[in-house]
Amino acid sequence: MRQFNGRLTSLLISLTLGSSLFPAVTCFAAQGSAPVVAHSSDPWWKHAVFYEIYPRSFADSNGDGIGDLNGITAHLDYLHDLGVDAIWLTPCYPSPQIDFGYDISDYCNIDPVYGTLADFDKLIAEAKKRNIRIVMDFVINHTSDKHPWFVASRSSKTDPKRDWYVWRDGKEANKPPNNWQSIFGHSAWDLDSRTGQYYYHFFYPQQPDLNWRNPEVRKAMFDVTRFWMDRGVAGFRLDAVGCLFEDQNLQDNPIKPGTNAFGDPNMESKYNDRLEEVHDVLRELRQVIDSYAGDRVLIGETSTSNVKELSRMYGAKLDEIQLPMNFFFAYLNKLSAADFRRLISEWDKNPAQGWPLYFFSNHDQVRHYVRYGDKTNNDAIAKVTATLFLTLRGTPLMYYGEELGMENNDPKRVEDVYDPIGKIGWPKEKGRDGERTPMQWTAADFAGFSTIKPWLTAPASFASHNVTVEEAQPDSILNFYKKLIQLRRTEPLRSGSYEPINTSDQNVVAYLRKGDAGTVMVAINMSGQEQLFKPDLPGKKFSAHESRVLLRSGQPVKPDDNDDAVRLAPFSVHICSLP
Ligand code: NOJ
Ligand code: CA
Repeated sequence: MRQFNGRLTSLLISLTLGSSLFPAVTCFAAQGSAPVVAHSSDPWWKHAVFYEIYPRSFADSNGDGIGDLNGITAHLDYLHDLGVDAIWLTPCYPSPQIDFGYDISDYCNIDPVYGTLADFDKLIAEAKKRNIRIVMDFVINHTSDKHPWFVASRSSKTDPKRDWYVWRDGKEANKPPNNWQSIFGHSAWDLDSRTGQYYYHFFYPQQPDLNWRNPEVRKAMFDVTRFWMDRGVAGFRLDAVGCLFEDQNLQDNPIKPGTNAFGDPNMESKYNDRLEEVHDVLRELRQVIDSYAGDRVLIGETSTSNVKELSRMYGAKLDEIQLPMNFFFAYLNKLSAADFRRLISEWDKNPAQGWPLYFFSNHDQVRHYVRYGDKTNNDAIAKVTATLFLTLRGTPLMYYGEELGMENNDPKRVEDVYDPIGKIGWPKEKGRDGERTPMQWTAADFAGFSTIKPWLTAPASFASHNVTVEEAQPDSILNFYKKLIQLRRTEPLRSGSYEPINTSDQNVVAYLRKGDAGTVMVAINMSGQEQLFKPDLPGKKFSAHESRVLLRSGQPVKPDDNDDAVRLAPFSVHICSLP
């Protein structure tokens, strides 16, 4: 899951909808434009723009300082105008909120802080009117320790639910069964005084791991997916899929040099992460999903260290996760043309030939506006990164507010931290509050998110980077995203091939998107210097006057007067169609 942007270098390596409600062949353009007809054979999710919403921080409808479902429903028109096709909703189930919803105490309800099941049904219905699908977050590795399953499980060694979780005797008195560490710090085992045994938790102690080797657990969890699919959800984002299984013999993990931000020895999660049996579960889950009409989708939080391994998450017969999340962009903290070109080429040609999904930011990563920004040209750079992932062959996944240039607002004092890892790891690890601040709707108090002081505070830049201000500025990041999303709905940007050009250029990432409808060239200047970019096209010469500019950013200082070249301003993009 999280690469804590250099604060922790490599914590966890693998964590980790066309329902019948929607016609499969229509792709929806943003308001005011004609719908684009997709290839009828393509599932909807291949061409959808996904948008992650952290419900606690998107919009507060009832003035308690916490975002909620009705707040999201109230802003669906905004999402529709932006061009969003599907929302990934991070957990809004009942939860003690230790890990802000990733500790679920009831899989088939909504936490009162976010609303009710009726509010959820309304969200689905209102979203459907705007051709927006909802994907739920499905936390399958663990439950809350307050879930009735775990309450029963810990009650006695003979309880029928005992085997639903991972219980073991200690090695010896007061010694956990082995050396495994929680990704959130310290031993992954907690001694439960009631029965004198230890239970296993890959994450917080309040998040005990389910035992996926127990068939009753599988059935119960698959029933949960049916509950939500019957309510009309278009699929699931699977949380932490890599760590569903642990080595039965509990072998110690290899220790690596150094210590992490929690002061624990660095460790390779060899025996409690990415075990082979994960694939059996994924295949079964996929069958459940596929038993419903409408191309429901599985997105996976599948972060691994290499392409071959990630590619396996599609399944040998493309029968597991349709959209494994490629974290390579999320882990890259440098605006490097060579690195991006390599990562894209590797993933575009992944061995499984699965459909790529690209994203930069999420609720566990420092926002990419900060990661790539140089503090002077951040807005221009935000357009550069937007262009990259919205013009590639693959499905883009946005994180709320990136379309505004939202930045992190990390806590300055440990007393202000909400995310427990920020308390455990302070000051090396400040936690994830910084990337979860309220959506910036207006320049008014609390960024227009709430009428009272919200649970987290928006960064000061909300005054200039908010929906109201940016909607009125033709050159804003928001309006650039809207134009790009419109453009990516047209062929060949929508489904054409990806062909890199000028592959030794150290400053400009450039590629062609080719299809029956023609060829589009995308050139992205990732450097702070103006570039005279001479496209090296296979088999023909580039002529600027014969190309048609579709979208560009930045204004070069020197005149654009070379017909065989394009002049690119620092941190700028140029998208044109070729004859
Ligand atoms: C990954 C989620 O994205 C993260 O926010 C959460 O803390 C862990 N999984 C545990 O569920
Ligand atoms: Ca609220």
